[in-house]
Amino acid sequence: MATYGPESTTPTTPPMGGAPAPARRSKVTAPWVRSRKGSGQPLVMVTAYDAPSARVADGAGVDLVLVGDSLAMVVLGYEDTLHVTVEDMAHHTAAVARTSPTPMVVADLPWMSYHTGAYDAVRNAAVLVRAGAQAVKLEGGRKRLEVVEAIIDAEIPVMGHLGLTPQSFHSMGGFKVQGKDLEAAKALIDDARALSDAGCFAIVLEGIPDVVAQLITESVAVPTIGIGAGPHCDGQVLVFHDVLGFDEQRPPKFVRRYAALQAEATSALSRWAEDVRAGRFPDDGETYHLAANAVPALIHQ
Ligand code: KIV
Repeated sequence: MATYGPESTTPTTPPMGGAPAPARRSKVTAPWVRSRKGSGQPLVMVTAYDAPSARVADGAGVDLVLVGDSLAMVVLGYEDTLHVTVEDMAHHTAAVARTSPTPMVVADLPWMSYHTGAYDAVRNAAVLVRAGAQAVKLEGGRKRLEVVEAIIDAEIPVMGHLGLTPQSFHSMGGFKVQGKDLEAAKALIDDARALSDAGCFAIVLEGIPDVVAQLITESVAVPTIGIGAGPHCDGQVLVFHDVLGFDEQRPPKFVRRYAALQAEATSALSRWAEDVRAGRFPDDGETYHLAANAVPALIHQ
């Protein structure tokens, strides 16, 4: 039986006819994630934004849940991630943390919560920690080093994020694969080394060519976690709603879908609506009753 956590303990019941469920684990922490570098066992991270998604991620045995600022797009209906605030992130981080999940809870520092300097960054990171995050993630490399160091100095673990950084949507000219020429690839490697040397416990690599992700992974002392960065990272992350098919649009090529829950949920709700309209819902078993001898008295009062 595979074990994933720091001190794995009680095995769970294997699901019917499927692969054995992962063993129940102790709470995942930043030092444990950091220690997975070179272990040969890929880290698994998925986004979660509320209690139900956190419970699903926990039940699936992932290592980390990321309360990503993708919240803006997949849950709140915005066109990009620039619209969520620290208050929005704290609200959703708290919902995830209240489920006391075994995976480590990482929360994104949203746009403009750390771009104005180290003081604001530390204060905003603290808001997310008080909401239940065990670490924060922020986008950018050497440009953000001062901020990264200040947050780590405040005893808050930091996860870096390089490559296609969605908070730079306007300056990148859209969601575009990064690091495609030699200079850009070298800059990414230098950024990753700087983040690793500064003490980040892991680095997300998003939307970069596989060979660049591989070079970065080989150049840094901490785990890399890829999304659209090929198979040579120390782990992988995907957005919850993408993996589960909570969207009718064609997903980007790096997404692998394991369910079509949007279609399934729509079909389930339409069957319920049909039952209501046809008078089939609720039935007797779904209804509360008075004791038989109380009914005549009530009717004839
Ligand atoms: O916000 C998010 O979902 C992320 C992942 C794409 C890594 O940052």
